[in-house]
Amino acid sequence: MTEAILLVGGKGTRLRPLTVNTPKPMVPAAGVPFLTHQLARARAAGVEHVVLATSYLAEVFEPYFGDGSGLGLHLEYVTEQEPLGTGGAIRNVASRLRSGPGDPVLIFNGDILTGLDIAALVATHQRTGADVSLHLTRVDDPRAYGLVPTDADGRVTAFLEKPQTPEEIVTDQINAGAYVFNRSVIDAIPTGRPVSVERETFPGLLADGAHLQGMVDSTYWLDLGTPQAFVRGSADLVLGRAPSPAVPGRRGDRLVLDGARVAADAKLTGGTVVGADARIGAGARVEGSAVLAGAIVGEDARVRDSLIGAGARIGPRTVLDGAVIGDGASVGADNELRAGLRVWCGADIPAGAVRFSSDQ
Ligand code: GDD
Ligand code: MG
Repeated sequence: MTEAILLVGGKGTRLRPLTVNTPKPMVPAAGVPFLTHQLARARAAGVEHVVLATSYLAEVFEPYFGDGSGLGLHLEYVTEQEPLGTGGAIRNVASRLRSGPGDPVLIFNGDILTGLDIAALVATHQRTGADVSLHLTRVDDPRAYGLVPTDADGRVTAFLEKPQTPEEIVTDQINAGAYVFNRSVIDAIPTGRPVSVERETFPGLLADGAHLQGMVDSTYWLDLGTPQAFVRGSADLVLGRAPSPAVPGRRGDRLVLDGARVAADAKLTGGTVVGADARIGAGARVEGSAVLAGAIVGEDARVRDSLIGAGARIGPRTVLDGAVIGDGASVGADNELRAGLRVWCGADIPAGAVRFSSDQ
């Protein structure tokens, strides 16, 4: 079967502070580094050889995944000296590919959680004889994505990355971040300089009359590039709404990893994951959230749609709603943190320091 390239070199800027110490694909979702889910899904689709295109915090991938045999894969790592952009990263790993010039190569953005039928994308590519095939999905607000209008046969007619004007919003179909490239198209990307596959390669191919084929698949799809999306994706994996063979336990309202301690009367709901050696205090309620390894949630705390970083501490009665707490941070008792608030790694918020709601 086909081999794959995974693009995992982005800085994950929007996901800070989660990505201060950890590259985005290595942040745990449903108990394991997010990339594990993508690798396991590729393996389940028959992919055996995967090349990881790394840049930001490149050194952490190989110690964790090794040669990939734990996942039944043969994994290779290629690190860019300077970030080469998405197209440059693809070109930079070409020497590791085993495919011949006419063979299909799968390429995935490293931050997408999806139920895409990978084999169907490859089959569409082969049936249509395209040079490149793209998974497309529909979203309510396409502005943060690459817009991909198609004709009646699904053939791509334009590629508009992150449209700036209302006139450019010509479709709600977006690039979902999974492609099949003919090997020869990869080899034709220029070397030795940054290239954006979205801003340069796709528009250039279209201008040259190449055949780009879109496959709209409206299965589960989420780009985990923002903290709220990341928390949502982790919860959906735990709940079983998002498919992955790599969730370490049964699907359901909660996932508690080995070594975690949860008080008998604490309530964990909505796809909450509690990482290894984390502790949840008496009377605490945690809903739709990710509590990473070694974190502590105090008694009677209320945590919703939030992410608590590794080793962070949340004091008694503190309320978190849509908040992100960086690794090792400490939030004292009786705080109220809401609405996308992000506490930096190692920061220390004293007891009773932050409120949102008015006092009675
Ligand atoms: N190796 C390497 N080097 N990887 C990179 C680099 C680089 O210089 N820059 C970005 N990447 C990786 C990121 O790690 C990520 O996995 C992927 O390329 C896409 O980058 P993002 O930064 O997540 O892009 P985006 O979400 O704004 O937009 C992309 O994804 C959308 C779908 O979620 C585009 O492909 C859009 O067209 C698309 O709609
Ligand atoms: Mg993204």
